[in-house]
Formats: sequence, structure tokens, C-alpha cells
Amino acid sequence: MAKKKLRSQEWYGRTGKDGFIYRSWMKNQGLPHHLFEGEKPVIGICNTWSELTPCNAHFRDLAEALKRGIWEAGGFPLEFPVMSLGECSIKPTAMLFRNLASMDVEESIRANPMDGVILMCGCDKTTPSLVMGAASVNLPTLVLSGGPMLVGRFKGKKIGTSDIWRFAEDFKLGKLSQEEFIEAEAAMSRSVGHCAPMGTASTMAAMVEALGLALPDNATIPAADSRRKVMAHLAGMRIVEMVKEDLTMDKILTRKAFENSIMVNAAVGGSTNYILHLIAIAKRIGVTLDLADFDEFSSRIPLIANVQPSGEHWVEDLFYAGGLPAVMKEIEKYLHTDAITVNGKTLGENIAKAECWDRNLIGTFENPIKPESGIAVLKGNLCPNGAVLKPSAATPSLLTHTGRAVVFEDIDDYKARVDDPNLDIDETCVMVLKKVGPKGYPGMPEVGNMGLPKKLLEKGVKDMVRISDGRMSGTGFGTVVLHVSPESAIGGPLALVQNGDRIELDVPNRSLNLLISEEEFATRRAAFSPSPLPYDRGYVNLFLDKVNQAHEGVDFDFLQGSSGPEVKRDSH
Ligand code: FES
Repeated sequence: MAKKKLRSQEWYGRTGKDGFIYRSWMKNQGLPHHLFEGEKPVIGICNTWSELTPCNAHFRDLAEALKRGIWEAGGFPLEFPVMSLGECSIKPTAMLFRNLASMDVEESIRANPMDGVILMCGCDKTTPSLVMGAASVNLPTLVLSGGPMLVGRFKGKKIGTSDIWRFAEDFKLGKLSQEEFIEAEAAMSRSVGHCAPMGTASTMAAMVEALGLALPDNATIPAADSRRKVMAHLAGMRIVEMVKEDLTMDKILTRKAFENSIMVNAAVGGSTNYILHLIAIAKRIGVTLDLADFDEFSSRIPLIANVQPSGEHWVEDLFYAGGLPAVMKEIEKYLHTDAITVNGKTLGENIAKAECWDRNLIGTFENPIKPESGIAVLKGNLCPNGAVLKPSAATPSLLTHTGRAVVFEDIDDYKARVDDPNLDIDETCVMVLKKVGPKGYPGMPEVGNMGLPKKLLEKGVKDMVRISDGRMSGTGFGTVVLHVSPESAIGGPLALVQNGDRIELDVPNRSLNLLISEEEFATRRAAFSPSPLPYDRGYVNLFLDKVNQAHEGVDFDFLQGSSGPEVKRDSH
């Protein structure tokens, strides 16, 4: 069989003026001519290193390990930066820029001479933005995650991101001083890597491993562990082979791979943000996936990994107990074990020898950590296009609950009134927060697990039913209904809820309803008019114009699908 010409030769293999231009400036980096002759696949290293994304701040070092592997396997590595989204710093929310970053990634890959790509992902949005962008090009692509940070320690206890919410409540109640609060900051983030619990970053790392886009153990090897660099080296070697095998993303990202990923996400108690990102990725690669699939495929899977926020421990501990392969082994009978993965083996082959070393960390299917996990997808007159709830992070007794609505019209209203001693609220009420959806905020921030009123915290109340069209941090917890669609800012039924209305949440029957008459609904709808959003230029204007709703993945309508790797016009 004739050897397929490398894509990069469309640039470097040219003769005359074009070839001169494509090669000459590259040579100012000290690159010898033979690298351009077409024998070595050019591997783009798509790097989200940034000092403003501290979870990815070790990526320069990791890229060096990748390059060693690429050189060893006969490839030609070329590293390039893309927009990096640091969850903890970006205002108003990193989610506002996920699609922008994905456009950067897509166009950077397509426009440049590369035959395969490594995506260096870590902090929450850096994984979906890179995978979405790369999927719309569809070259051989392998994801390398940066790994979780080592678990923090404070006052003799292990701590991680999920503790921030507890610390904040203790601080509010005066149980923690300002000095202790600052001490806890340094104690929590004591090593390189992304958040230590199964928050969105680790959920995303598990997602790519379960999809088959990353090597086994990608999700759990700690960032500070030398084996993370070994994985980078091996990933560098493997991507060169993937180019030779023409193992493009669409051959890995099949419907079976997505179903596997949903089941694995349930087994690890992954973040609700996962839903938005997986739907967006599926739409880029052309796989049909909707909200109902999350309920269907996750409802059969119990919580296997005993990792925060759904469980007790940390992703670092999960690695020592056997990692994601050992978790997948427990639900093997449900997985599509014939799904192909980036190492050229099937998922079944990858987990064949997986073993659990600690049953405190990894339960069995018959004796799980919790019987219920996954994602509950709710429907009803409050959320005609769906809403979601994570049962493993909720209080079981609140999963069936009817209560009086206490409504906050937007985030400012919430902040102004939540701790007002005169707020008419008790623990049986249902807190409703409006205008935090994709367009309403804009960017759908992680405020859905809004803090409880101080006067109820003082009474010892730990959880209440909370409903919004926003998101929740992957490290958050509580009986929190999220992603209500359509959102309130565009006139979704959530906009019509008034103080004192009764709301019925019935998770076992997957329903969420506002208990008012049809006539009253119609009257309120007729009186509703959306408030204008205060953005009239720039990227945010594009976002408001083109973003779709939560049940569709919050992607831009014009980014769905793929344009493939072909470049239709030359530069010279
Ligand atoms: Fe980056 Fe949590 S802030 S992963």
C-alpha cells in the first residue's frame, strides 16, 4: 500500500517560493532541513500553559517530556499556545469563554502544518474547549491531562476544593478567623496540578480517558508524580504512531464511546458541568446525544469511586487504589468494551488487568459506595427542555420535596438579601435564582449551589432545595437543580416564579413543577418582557447572539459540526 503523504507536506513539501517561505522562517529556530522532508510526522502540542491558569502552570515542563517522546518515535514536535482559561480567576466566568477558546484551538490546528495533535488540558474548561476545537478538525489527536494536585492538609485534616464551601460557612459563622482562612488557602494548594476532588477538571480528565482519547491512568496520576511525565513521554511516542495509523478522532469518538463515558462519569460521581461539555463535543463530531441519554445510561450505574464531592477521598487516593481502569473494571458488564482507544487497544483490553488495591476507595458493583449516582434529568412545567440534579451530592430526604418558593430575581438580588435577618425563609422553602443561564449572566456561572441564609446556617441547616438556570462547581454539593432550560432571561418558565408559589421536586419520578394553574401561567407569561442585556459589542455580543441553551451544550450554533482538516486557500 502506498504511504499516505503527510498533511504537513502541503506546506513543507512545496517547491519554489511557497516552500521557501513555509520553511525558511521555521529555520530561524535552529531546525535542520531534513525535518521538513516529510519523513517525520509534525505533531502540534496545543499547550494551555499560563501563569494565570495555575492548574496548568506546570505544562512547560510536561511539554518537554512530551517532546522527548515525540522525537524518540520519529516525530517532529511543534508547540503552540492557545487561550487558557483559569477557572479561579476569570471574570465573570470561564464558561463565557469556552467557545472562544475552542475557536482558537480549531483554527490554530487547521491553519497550521501539523499531522497530529496533543491537547494539554487541566483546569476545568481547558479540556472541553480543546477537545471541541480539535473535534471540528478531526486529526489524529491524543489528550494529556495535567493531573490532580496533591491533597492539602489543614489542622491535621486532608482538605481540597470542596472544603472552600465549608470554610466559607464557618467563616460566616465566626468559627474560622481571617488568619486561619488565609492559612487554609496555602495549605489547600500546596502542589502543582488541578483541583484535588472529582471536580470538573478531574471529571474532564476521566471523561477523555473513558472516551478513549487519553492513555489509561490519565485521569488520576497526580501532577507532581514523576509518572505523569512518563505518561507524557509515552503519549508523545504514541501520537506519532496514531498519525501513521490515521487514527483520527472520529474513529474513537463513536456513540459507544459517549455511552461509556456517561457510565464512567456516574461511577466516579463526576461534575454536572460534564453534561454541557459532552453534549457540545458530541455535536462537534456528529454523534447524536441528548439529555435523556445521561439519565438512561447513568441510572444503572452506582457510585463506585469514593471520591469527593460525592464520596470521602481524593483523586490522588483513587490513583493509589487502582485508578480509573479499576473503576471501569467494576462496571465492565455495562461498558462497550470493543470501543477503540488512542493506544490502539480496545477499552476492554485496557482494563483487562486492572485491579483494586483499596476497597475504601473503589466499591464493587454489588457493594457500591452509594447505590444512586449519575445524573437525574428532570422535566416539568418549570423546565420543558430539562434540568439536572446530581443525586449522589444531594440529601436523600430532599429528593422528594414540595416547598414555598423564595425568589431571587438575579445574583445581585441574592447577594443583597440572602443574609437579611428579615428574609422570610425557613429550611422547607425552595430557593430560586433567576438570570444565571447562558444569556442571563451571561456565561452561566457556577452559582447554582447558592449559599444558605446565615440565619438558617446558625440553626444548623445543611441543605435546602435550590433551583436555577446556572451551573454548580464540580466540587459543589447539595440538593441543587441546575441548567433549567429554557433559561429565565429569555422567558423560560423559571422567569415566571413568584415568591410564595409552591414548587414540587420529585427526583424518583424525574419531575419539577410549579404548582400554579394553566390560566395563571398564561397570565404571567403574557405580562413577561425580557430585560435588555447590557452588552452591545465585542465577543460577549457574539456570545449572546449565537449561544444555544443548556440542553444543547451552550455551544455556538455556527460551531456545531466539523469543517475537517482541509484548508481551502493557500496563504501565498
Ligand atoms: Fe483549576 Fe479547579 S480551579 S481545576
